[in-house]
Amino acid sequence: MTTQRTYVVTGAASGIGKASKELLEAAGNTVIGVDLRDTDINVDLTTADGRATMVAQATELSGGRVDAVLAIAGLSAPIPATAGVNYFGAIATLEGLRPLLAKSDAPRAATVASMASLHPHDDALLEAFIAGDEPKAIARAQELADLGPEVGYMIYSTSKQALARWVRRTAPTAEWAGAGIPLNAIAPGVILTPMTAELVATEEGRKQLNEQVPMPLNGPAAAIVPAELLVWLTSEQNSHLCGQVIFVDGGYDAVTRGESTW
Ligand SMILES: NC(=O)c1ccc[n+]([C@@H]2O[C@H](COP(=O)([O-])OP(=O)(O)OC[C@H]3O[C@@H](n4cnc5c(N)ncnc54)[C@H](O)[C@@H]3O)[C@@H](O)[C@H]2O)c1
Repeated sequence: MTTQRTYVVTGAASGIGKASKELLEAAGNTVIGVDLRDTDINVDLTTADGRATMVAQATELSGGRVDAVLAIAGLSAPIPATAGVNYFGAIATLEGLRPLLAKSDAPRAATVASMASLHPHDDALLEAFIAGDEPKAIARAQELADLGPEVGYMIYSTSKQALARWVRRTAPTAEWAGAGIPLNAIAPGVILTPMTAELVATEEGRKQLNEQVPMPLNGPAAAIVPAELLVWLTSEQNSHLCGQVIFVDGGYDAVTRGESTW
């Protein structure tokens, strides 16, 4: 039987986060949105202050118990803030709210990596992410950004690879699996949200995207598609998925990696 649950959803003001919040609310759940603006908790998840305020306000608004956390907020721009929010912001959300999850009878957590995790990455930035060294990661991201948008794109792809790796590394540990909290990620292909709106606005952009990210099954997807998967991953029904990075990408992963699984 499904019961009403309390969720924290970051990135709740737009795209996949907004679609997830709406789906959860339509099913009768309580959702505490987090975003830069236009939602319940308005903070900047690239800053220590913003992260601390998010945890304090989520604690207050939830009464100290949260059933699920969906860390969705992200940027794709070739700028250092992308490293800050996509990796350190997502982890600060998941780790910061873990004590509230621990109070739930059926706690769940999920975040959003990307098909971009399969794209070329920057080794130095990946190392800084894995070491948890935010100042070093931001400094390296600035160096990449300074080399122009093509190189700067690696801030995004590297942040998503690092996040996927963090999920795989962290999910089976005592703090998560050992505490009965499934932690997983999704890796969307091209999703039609404000993040991709400019890219898909022109015939040329769509053609380029289709060459870079072929999606033989139904092409680019609406925000509700990954949202449905996030909602299931953070539902009571998900009792045994642990550290999975699930590609919801119209086949891009299968096309790119072929038969190899690992
Ligand atoms: N759209 C795609 O094709 C696609 C593909 C793969 C992964 N993703 C990932 O899905 C997630 C959601 O993206 P979307 O497509 O819905 O984009 P979106 O731009 O519609 O929504 C992202 C939201 O995150 C918020 N955000 C950004 N920086 C923030 C910060 N510092 N603090 C707080 N909130 C912040 C934005 O304000 C925005 O509301 C992102 O992590 C993105 O990288 C998107």
